[in-house]
Amino acid sequence: MRVVLASDHGGVSLRKEIAALLEEMQIDYKDIGCDCEDSVDYPDYGIPAAELVASGEYDKGILICGTGIGMSIAANKVKGIRAALVHDVFSAKATREHNDSNMITMGERVIGPGLAIEIVKTWLGTDFQGGRHANRIGKVTEYENK
Ligand code: RB5
Repeated sequence: MRVVLASDHGGVSLRKEIAALLEEMQIDYKDIGCDCEDSVDYPDYGIPAAELVASGEYDKGILICGTGIGMSIAANKVKGIRAALVHDVFSAKATREHNDSNMITMGERVIGPGLAIEIVKTWLGTDFQGGRHANRIGKVTEYENK
């Protein structure tokens, strides 16, 4: 599994914690920044990361900003992306099982690193259930491709 990781200035510290987790889990990942303390614009990092997932170059993506909201809005504009804003372990599991989410977004100003790490472990370790959920995703994809 290949994972792309990105954040704006509001998510640098949590992004680094997640990078350390991915190292520890021996997951092949690419961190595309930002490498700054100064204010940047979340779409400048979220959209390129989403494109890497949409193109199939990476299987999944993790995006961090202050709230997770901006990254979620930006990533979901990229065709083929199902980015879930997740701040609890239940939703991390459910969004893989039901939505086949290929990206998650979180807010560094919303949750602590301990919970974020549990969320990432759960999300990466949960499979899509298919079945009726696949039909529902199919309807979203059909609309997206109109
Ligand atoms: C940056 O201040 C903040 O607006 C951004 O990180 C994010 O929370 C936007 O949704």
